[in-house]
Amino acid sequence: MGAGRDSHTGQAAPVPLVLLGMGNVHRELLGILGRKAEGLADRYGVTFSVAACADLSGFVRGPGAGGRIATGAMLEAKAGGRRLREIPGAEPISLESALDVAGPRGILLDAASMDVETGGIGLAAARAALNRGTSVVFANKSAFALAFDELEALAAANGAGLGWSATVCGGLPVVNTGSRDLVGAEFRRLRGVFNSTSNLVLGRMAEGLSLEDAVTEAQRRGIAETDPTNDLNGTDTALKLLILVRTVMRRKASLADVERTGIEAAPEPGADEVVRLLGEAVPDGDAVRMRVSPVAVPRGSFFGSIGTLDMAVEWETDLFSTQRLVATEGDAIPTAAAVLRDAVHIACGRPTGPSLRIGGS
Ligand SMILES: NC(=O)c1ccc[n+]([C@@H]2O[C@H](COP(=O)([O-])OP(=O)(O)OC[C@H]3O[C@@H](n4cnc5c(N)ncnc54)[C@H](OP(=O)(O)O)[C@@H]3O)[C@@H](O)[C@H]2O)c1
Repeated sequence: MGAGRDSHTGQAAPVPLVLLGMGNVHRELLGILGRKAEGLADRYGVTFSVAACADLSGFVRGPGAGGRIATGAMLEAKAGGRRLREIPGAEPISLESALDVAGPRGILLDAASMDVETGGIGLAAARAALNRGTSVVFANKSAFALAFDELEALAAANGAGLGWSATVCGGLPVVNTGSRDLVGAEFRRLRGVFNSTSNLVLGRMAEGLSLEDAVTEAQRRGIAETDPTNDLNGTDTALKLLILVRTVMRRKASLADVERTGIEAAPEPGADEVVRLLGEAVPDGDAVRMRVSPVAVPRGSFFGSIGTLDMAVEWETDLFSTQRLVATEGDAIPTAAAVLRDAVHIACGRPTGPSLRIGGS
């Protein structure tokens, strides 16, 4: 996975990316890649090219693979509500061809819509990529959360990288810090406000806005899914909690184990309280109790004092006492940056996921 060299120039050849999904996250990623290309090359010796990309119309060859569409044309088409295959000159290809174009040095970036039932295209594409030794980075938490044991084993068996730091709390390095830096610790409790859309909506509704107007603001900012149902009914928070339980707390658990209540059942807060959609995991012997629910918390408490654009995590462990992380994210840029972070680590040959022994916990 280390940088290959161009046989003519001796420069590190660009790492080919396959972009699955062309929504908020990947559109921001394309912007970052454009703005930061020189800095990434100078600092990490890594450059990227877009070998292929996909939206609901399917895969097309990307501009970095000699495709006949330019990045600007892709962004313009998506901003105008058009599909990639409608762009004049776009060359339709299959998932398999997209992965062939990327090759084993390539990285599949999954920022497709969630599919909580089956993992959807994200899971199918990740399996296909890892089986070929192509690394995978997820922003789409459903595919990863539903099949992490299998994906981690596939990555290890095929020498591929696996990154998922963008799946929980956008750019906040919760996954990385929690999995790398709590060595030897036993968790007593983990809690968090993991979903920025529900936090924004609860905050705006407390200010007197309607649910619809608050959701519209979250969508305008690019932090809500096109269909915000899973943001509001607790499913998104449950998936993030599950990912932390599996990869940071290292306990076996599944989505069905998470007790879930959405913001529609928010309690009436007292005078000095605010409502937060909290995810909570508490170890219980070899198992773990997991719950997502809207809770009224004192304004002066840690979770009560965070802002409407914040996400926050608090964990209590035996060795490291209580630690709290907070991020303010008003758009999808930090999530896109987290995708890039994982891709850079993989391109530099630093394992992201496979250094963890998820399956053996
Ligand atoms: N936005 C954030 O701040 C954020 C933060 C953390 C994680 N995430 C996760 O990252 C993922 C992307 O988020 P987003 O905000 O970018 O979502 P989005 O704007 O709704 O974009 C989703 C993209 O997935 C594409 N897609 C859906 N089904 C597909 C399929 N079967 N084949 C190929 N492409 C498909 C859509 O195609 P069309 O364009 O044709 O509809 C769209 O381009 C989601 O899973 C989300 O949960 C997002």
